Amino acid sequence: MAAIRVGIVRIEHLREALGIGVARPRISWQVTGAEPGWAQSAYEIAVDGTGTGPVESEESQFRPWPGAALASRERHSVQVRVWGTDGGPSPWSEPVEVEAGLLDPSDWTAEMISPEQEPGGTAQPDPAALLRGEFTVRAPFTRARLYSTAQGVYELELNGRTVGADVLSPGWTSYSHRLRYQTYDVTELLAEGRNALGAWLSDGWFRGRIGFEGGRTHVYGAEIGLLAQLELHYADGTVETFGTDASWRTAPSPITAVGAYEGETYDARLEQDGWSAPGFDETRWQPVRTIGHDAGVLVAPSGPPVRRTETLRPVKIFTSPAGETLVDFGQNIAGRLRITVRGPAGHTVTLRHAEVLEDGELGVRPLRSAISVDTYTLRGEGREQWEPRFTMHGFRYAQIDGWPGELTADDVQAVVCHTDMERTGWFSSSHAELDRFHENVVWSMRGNFVDLPTDCPQRDERLGWTGDIQVFAPTAAYLYDCAGMLSSWLEDLAAEQEQFGTVPVYVPWIDLGVFPAEPTAVWGDAAVIVPWTLYERFGDLDILRRQYASMRAWVDQVAVRAGGSHLWDSGFQLGDWLDPTAPPERPEEARTDVHLVATAYFARSADLLAQAAGILGRDAEAVHYSQLAERVRAAFSVEFVSPSGRMASDTPTAYALGLEFGLITGDAQRARAGRRLVELVRANGHRIATGFVGTPLVCDALTSAGALDDAFRLLLQTECPSWLYAVVQGGTTVWERWDSVLPDGRINPGDMTSFNHYALGGVADWIHQTVAGLRPAAPGYRKVTIAPRPGGGLAHAATSHRTPYGVVDVRWERVREVFELKVTLPPGVTATVSLPGHEGVELELGSGTHVHRMPFRAAHEDPLPEATPALLG
Ligand code: BGC
Repeated sequence: MAAIRVGIVRIEHLREALGIGVARPRISWQVTGAEPGWAQSAYEIAVDGTGTGPVESEESQFRPWPGAALASRERHSVQVRVWGTDGGPSPWSEPVEVEAGLLDPSDWTAEMISPEQEPGGTAQPDPAALLRGEFTVRAPFTRARLYSTAQGVYELELNGRTVGADVLSPGWTSYSHRLRYQTYDVTELLAEGRNALGAWLSDGWFRGRIGFEGGRTHVYGAEIGLLAQLELHYADGTVETFGTDASWRTAPSPITAVGAYEGETYDARLEQDGWSAPGFDETRWQPVRTIGHDAGVLVAPSGPPVRRTETLRPVKIFTSPAGETLVDFGQNIAGRLRITVRGPAGHTVTLRHAEVLEDGELGVRPLRSAISVDTYTLRGEGREQWEPRFTMHGFRYAQIDGWPGELTADDVQAVVCHTDMERTGWFSSSHAELDRFHENVVWSMRGNFVDLPTDCPQRDERLGWTGDIQVFAPTAAYLYDCAGMLSSWLEDLAAEQEQFGTVPVYVPWIDLGVFPAEPTAVWGDAAVIVPWTLYERFGDLDILRRQYASMRAWVDQVAVRAGGSHLWDSGFQLGDWLDPTAPPERPEEARTDVHLVATAYFARSADLLAQAAGILGRDAEAVHYSQLAERVRAAFSVEFVSPSGRMASDTPTAYALGLEFGLITGDAQRARAGRRLVELVRANGHRIATGFVGTPLVCDALTSAGALDDAFRLLLQTECPSWLYAVVQGGTTVWERWDSVLPDGRINPGDMTSFNHYALGGVADWIHQTVAGLRPAAPGYRKVTIAPRPGGGLAHAATSHRTPYGVVDVRWERVREVFELKVTLPPGVTATVSLPGHEGVELELGSGTHVHRMPFRAAHEDPLPEATPALLG
């Protein structure tokens, strides 16, 4: 027992529980240092050093808050200790602080202020404004908290120092339903006497242009605004509040224009020294205008903010055929440049961004109307450093015009920005291109988990497309702890669904007059599948509970659509989007019948909803939806599956759906369907023939059909279309199209050609689960299945996943005909292991490190002799 430690105590899904919006925050922890096979038998939570008494339980995740509901601003420290099968208790964990935010709308006394005399802005893109206010601090004070948000995007400065490290806060939610506020500990930034709080404020998603085909401005309103409330707690127990109000002043900022798509224009000559420090002469500043706001929509974040997570140096600076100065960062990212420059006042440097080069020049056509140009006009006073504040770009290359002197690698960096999630999943193998592909999947997640899950980070889109995250969620939940971020987005989904009348194809929803208010399969199914995936991967029942009404509303609506036939065979569909045979301009023209796809997803969602209902104790609904799922499966079978197991659409996507969604049930039918899938995959030379729908399923379906070797050949194919094609073409992210770069090196002429779309990277889930062999067998990886299926000539593969209980590590290696598997399990996790070639033999493992060695030959090699012992050691 002595070595046992309780670490990483987590409050809800947050690493930093400051300003939490939950009055009874749940507590989770991990145990380290335990003997193999150790299991927790009890735990105790202490609040402010006082233990609540041991609770007999093996559970370490989402344990109920032990005290009374938190009031706004209430702060406590939490510690945990545990007992195990071998005694106890462990030492207390390091304390973790929990502090409630403003839980009630009436806590807000500050007023929202606008820098403009009337709503509307000037031209698009608008300039950003500065706002400032001053206040007095008495001594001694003990703590200071700043609660703030904006209609727009904002950044605060207190006495000349930047508050927090957030990028583009408050991020993008369905503002009319939910506007997140941030909580900052500003105790260290305050001083006795006069203090000043300053803000940069710009349109952001609230008022700036968003959306394709011209997009829209003023989506949420014509008035940008800032809301900030600083609360000072004094040693004598009194609290003083200072907030935005009519006494604040405003002035134009050095940002003379900024838009998400357009980029930022900054004139450093307009900087006003000391503007966010006390005593600044603000006589030439204008009064602000107070505007109303609805405190009822203010919510605390449930995940981390967007931050700068990495900076990259140029790997190459060179001159293009046209004589332009180009920089290659070696990696396609979402973020922006940071420059360090010296030059004369008034001189302008222009930064252009692109993901690719075309004929040796920046390939900007795929950006469509997102021109992505930042300009910096120098102040002319020595070394100047600048990074845009309120814009982001998707790029690997930059063109730098007007650089004074010679540009060196020390002058420019690429700053990677995304939601600051914790990395939790890794994969590596003996196959260099496969590893690079996996790296590309990680980078596409980083490029698109920028506060909400977007389709792409570069063109005039960057929307929360529901279909894209629906197919990618299992991979995402493995690679990063995205539970907080995605559960916030799901709340927006539910709010939009209710208002819009169905699940929109992207969330937050903006009506661009392009998509009908009609349920669309695969995309709308995100309402059911994303919460289910989060439950499965993070074990948080509350997410299911919160989303249940939205999940049910979706399935009910589809059921009405399908009517008595139980076939979803009408209305608008996107289908197996981006099937490689679809014409570049008509990505929805896939070979698989859209109604086959829609009905398959209907069965899948009804089935998951039934399971969710059962888990939530809604027994009658569980029965109702499982009967519904059964009827849909039966209808599907009659309509789309021949008695012998042929699908109405003779495509890999149709077979993959049939096999993986349990729609082909008879053994003979399944066997026939499996054989047909293999025939199709082989006939196509093991090149990809699936779009958004079939791609994440096809390797699983081949595996279930006993054709592991074909799954590997598909996975490791490098000819177009294939996953590794982009890798051998030098891609550093997952592309939107199988041929975003055509085999002849030209950029795909379609006007929808991104180089950073995670959807087709959803196969990484198969890589984790089957190649490396780790999959959850109970919610939150409380139990895991370890079933590596080596193939493709791989000599070794390894994966690690930081589960809620701690890191599970699986690595295998083949040395000639010996297969070695090494598994490490954290306390609290048990595993069922199934070894390749010995599928019938299952081993049960507890925590600790386990090594197994056995003779092995891959499926296509000679079978093992009957008498081979299953395990050697
Ligand atoms: C997006 C996709 C999306 C699709 C559906 C595209 O423009 O980038 O990823 O799912 O539209 O219409």
